[in-house]
Parts: sequence; C-alpha cells; structure tokens
Amino acid sequence: MNNNHWYKNAVFYQISVRAYKDSNGDGHGDLRGITEKLDYLQTLGVDCIWIMPIYPSPLKDDGYDIADYYSVDKAFGSLDDLKGLIRAAHEHDIRIVMDLVLNHTSDEHPWFVASRSDRNSPYRDYYVWSDTNQKYKDTRVIFLDTEPSNWTWDEKTGQYYWHRFYASQPDLNFDNPKVQEEMLNVARFWLDLGIDGFRADAVPYLIEREGTNCENLPETHAYLKKLRAFMEENYPGRILLCEANQWPEDVRPYFGDGDEFHMGFHFPIMPRIYMALKKGRYEDMEKIMRRTPSIPENCQWCTFLRNHDELTLEMVTEEERQWMWKQYAPEPRMKLNLGIRRRFAPLLDNNRRKMELANSILFTLPGSPIVYYGDEIGMGDNLDLFDRNGVRTPMQWDDSPNAGFSKGKPFSELVKGELSYQNVNVASQINGPGSFFNSVKRMIALRKQHPAFSGSNMEWLDAGNPAVAVYIREHEGETMLILNNLSDAAETVHIPAEQQTTYLDLFAGQNVAINDKITLQPYSYLWLVKK
Ligand code: GLC
Repeated sequence: MNNNHWYKNAVFYQISVRAYKDSNGDGHGDLRGITEKLDYLQTLGVDCIWIMPIYPSPLKDDGYDIADYYSVDKAFGSLDDLKGLIRAAHEHDIRIVMDLVLNHTSDEHPWFVASRSDRNSPYRDYYVWSDTNQKYKDTRVIFLDTEPSNWTWDEKTGQYYWHRFYASQPDLNFDNPKVQEEMLNVARFWLDLGIDGFRADAVPYLIEREGTNCENLPETHAYLKKLRAFMEENYPGRILLCEANQWPEDVRPYFGDGDEFHMGFHFPIMPRIYMALKKGRYEDMEKIMRRTPSIPENCQWCTFLRNHDELTLEMVTEEERQWMWKQYAPEPRMKLNLGIRRRFAPLLDNNRRKMELANSILFTLPGSPIVYYGDEIGMGDNLDLFDRNGVRTPMQWDDSPNAGFSKGKPFSELVKGELSYQNVNVASQINGPGSFFNSVKRMIALRKQHPAFSGSNMEWLDAGNPAVAVYIREHEGETMLILNNLSDAAETVHIPAEQQTTYLDLFAGQNVAINDKITLQPYSYLWLVKK
C-alpha cells in the first residue's frame, strides 16, 4: 500500500491528554505521560493516536475553547514535550494527529477580546456580529440543554455575536479572508512541528447564509478544499479527519473528489450498532450502510463505538431517539443534549460477550476504527460529574491509589463501583490471556494482517436470519466472510451457495468447510477468510 495512504487501514486511538497519564504528579495528565505509555499503545496495536486539545484554554469546553492556537497549555507540558512525543511515537511506528478547531475560539482569545472591545476594532470582523438575533433562524442549537440561542448579546458594543456551541465559544467569521489565512497559519505551525494531521472539529458550521440551516454550505467546502490543497502541496502523507455529525449523503461531499478530507467519521452507524445489539436484529445497521455512498479511492471512513462526547443521537429519527433513551439512559441524568453521556462498558451492562461482539462489528465494518481510551479494558464512567466529564475520567492503569494515573491529586474524581480501577485496570488485564484487553488486542492484530479490511466497501448477504449480520469484505484479492450474532440465543444461518467453500477461521486458527448451515452461539462472531 502506498504509504501516503497509511490511514486507510490504520487503528486509531483517542486520548484525553488530561486524563491519560500524569508524569509529574500535578494531577493532570500530560504529553510526557503519553510518551511513557507508547509501549502499551504499541502492544495494543495502535497505529495513530488522536490527542484532544492541548492549547491554552479557560476550559469552558474542555479545551475546545482555545485562547491561543500557538502553544501548549502548561498543564500538558511544552512544545518540546510535544516534539518529544511525536519523535518517540514515530519510533514506535505510531502517528499523532491533534484537534484543529476552526469554527470558533474561546471568548478569552485575544482576537475576540479585541473584537468585542470596539465596533471599529480591526478584529471586529473576525467574528459574526449582528444588530438582531433574528438572523439565520433556520439554524439548530446544538448544546440545547444549556444554550437558548446561537446569538448572545454583547452589552458593551450593543450587538449580538454568533456561536454554534457555548456562548463562551464565539464563531469565527470565515467570510473574512484574514480568518481563512490565520487558520492556514495555525495548521502550518503544527505541521512544521511534525504532527501527522488533524481531526478537524465541527467543520459543517464554518459559514452562515440566510435561508439555510448554515450547515455543509458550498462556501464551507470551498475553504476546506483550500486547506487540503495547502496540506497536499506542503505536507503529503499528513491527514485531515472530518468531524461532521451528519447523514452519510451529507458527509460524502467532505471527501470531495478525493481533494477535501482524507477521512470522515461515520456518525450514523454508531447508534445503530447499539440498536442492533439491543434489538437482536441487524436491519438498522444494514439500512444505514446501504445508504452510505461510495467514497473516492484515497479516502476512508472512520468508525467508532464511543468518544469523549455524549453518544450522539442526532443521526436517528425522533422515534429511534426516544427508544434509545429508554433502552440506554434509564436514569434522566444519563441524557445530555441529544445523546447519552455514558461509556461503552456500562452501556453494554459490562456484558463481556456483547462488548466483544460490538468490537467485532467495529473492526470488520468498512473504515478505520478508533478506540476511545479506556474502552479497550472496559472502564466505567462517573455520572456525578458535570456535562461530558463523566466519560473523561483518569485512565485506569492499575489498582494502586489514583489508578496509577497520578502521584498527586487527580484533576477529577475517578470511576466508582463495579467498573472502578480496583476492578478494571490495565495491569490486571494485560497479562491475562482471557482478558477483554487481550480480545481487543487480538482483533486488532488480525484485522491488520488482512488486506480485505482496508477497502471501504462491503456486501451484505441475506443468510435468512434477521439476528445475524453476515457480510463480505473484499479487497486486494482477499475475501472475508463475517458473521455477527446479535441475539442472546444460538442462531442458525444459511450461507448462499456461491459462498459455500473452505475458509480459514481466524480466531480458531483452522480451516473450516462452510456448507449450507452454520449455528452461532449467543453474541458470537466469526471472521472467515476464503481459501
Ligand atoms: C466537537 C467536539 C466537542 C466540542 C464541540 C465544540 O463536537 O467533539 O467535544 O464540545 O466540537 O468544539
């Protein structure tokens, strides 16, 4: 494979830097802490780490509110620490991407401080100001549990400013060429430092136009293409990963003709994996994957089971959302905005079989998978913590005080109860052959050995049983037959005649002749390579 296409079959791992590993005992995870854990990440089989924002920030949105694009917050270390991490990661064959937050800054960013100081400030036009709060009325509010409007009144200068997220995150004005240029400079700075690419945050919202919902506009795509062209010209092999929480047909344009994003998260498949597991039927997964357009050869989807935000239910119908809340958010405090603020293991009742099955789906669907830190050991969450902080608690390394995360007082409470560090931690799982960690590690290793997984297409088979998802992955001359039994009962499927042949069962490590019928145990899965 062309090495510039490394992302097409890479395993990603998402890290909240603050929560991962504290190297200096100040209670905050830091960049050196991640460097210390590269051996662990290599053992798991990670190819690329996505580090969440490390920029100086007043932390009204955990660092997605940036006050300075050109340095590292002291709590995380220094620019040299980042260089050190990148160097050490590359020695481990691991790449590093970071968040690039284009859409908005913190209200403490000097540009906004200047912008709101005076209507005549040269920075006034860096943000979106208006005399009325009636503009762009067709635009939804995203943080609807806390924000009544996308407009906030500024007393001093007597106008409203526009923000798609918290009021403390004013939107930059991408109609201003200076803003466009500033953000290219930001990208250049981190690329020169050696970063392997960006997870570009909240990209659908860059531009506003009256009479639209202000999402996915052509002008937004035009800017993103400029960013890509700039990277292609100067930093080939570095990637742009798109965060657009949209329907597949609306994400498709973000790949352009292979000249916009290299990768895009597949948001809609995620809740449907949970739906399928609860219903014991695969139809919702199949429907959304059939609705997913094909993408250019040099692009790839990015799949995930959980991330640092609430499990978003934006990409389901109202009826499905109510159903998901009922099933997965039985306590009101588990809900947040249009989602559910719980982690992977608690969502699946810490049921080992379901947790493995969900990973089998993640690692066999088209796209490069991302594992959210801690989900590889099935760590828990802490619902007492505000907003999304309950899914961003310190990584559970061992059963020593503070989970082996810090020698000081951790920045956050840890997880309590059944899934706390006393019960769930890396040290107790890493050497146990039967541990959940080792199941995930094995899936990652098998996935990486097989080119069939690096394509971006799949073919669904009707095997006569709505409880068993059966599909074919084919790429570079290899054909793989995948079966996932979503039901809590043993289920039998009928394999179509064309597919009846000898396969290598990857988990059993032996050849099997597949005839008409196969029976799968509850929540079991098979990865079969056609001989
Ligand atoms: C993205 C991030 C989320 C953040 C928001 C605003 O959706 O994933 O954590 O709050 O953008 O930056």
